[in-house]
Amino acid sequence: MKKLALGILGSGTGSNCRAILEQIRAGKLDAEARLVVADTFNAGILNVARDYGVPNVYLPPGKFRTRLEPNVEMELVRLLQEASVELVVLAGFMRVLKEPMLAAFPRRIINIHPSLLPKFPGIESWKQALEAGEKVSGCSVHFVDAGIDSGEIIAQREVPVLAGDTAESLHARIQVAEHALYPEVIAQFADA
Ligand code: GRF
Repeated sequence: MKKLALGILGSGTGSNCRAILEQIRAGKLDAEARLVVADTFNAGILNVARDYGVPNVYLPPGKFRTRLEPNVEMELVRLLQEASVELVVLAGFMRVLKEPMLAAFPRRIINIHPSLLPKFPGIESWKQALEAGEKVSGCSVHFVDAGIDSGEIIAQREVPVLAGDTAESLHARIQVAEHALYPEVIAQFADA
């Protein structure tokens, strides 16, 4: 059977990307990573891609801080389509996607977010959860729409907030949950 073709987008370390590629390598996820794209030069996620022999590219984002320049976003669409990507997986990608990507991949772009959405969208959500005195936090995988972390939720995993947690310890616990949840959700798309 044909494997689900993934395009993975990130801006940072790439630990979620690594977890996904590891599951593929282990034969536990019936997918194929066709392309990894980063909007930051020297992002760790590009090295992760190289470790697993996945084609990878740095895409200079242009002059905006929170989104891609429109011509760059169109180039991103072209790169993903050229690689015959079926599912776009955001793994720590720090920019809001706009019409070119949303129109090219309807209900085919997913993101992982380190909170139990709709609580705490936006950046450093584990800090927001800690400061709000939450006893339980976690992560969410959701479809990407035009808003910030606002698309339909596909799956969530809870983790406890422990007495004495720091932002770092809570984030680390959430990331362990992310690394399990994201490949599981992608597997659902692969089986569909
Ligand atoms: C993760 O915590 C994810 O939830 C958020 O960005 C972080 C990416 O981490 N969207 P990594 O680059 O996968 O290590």
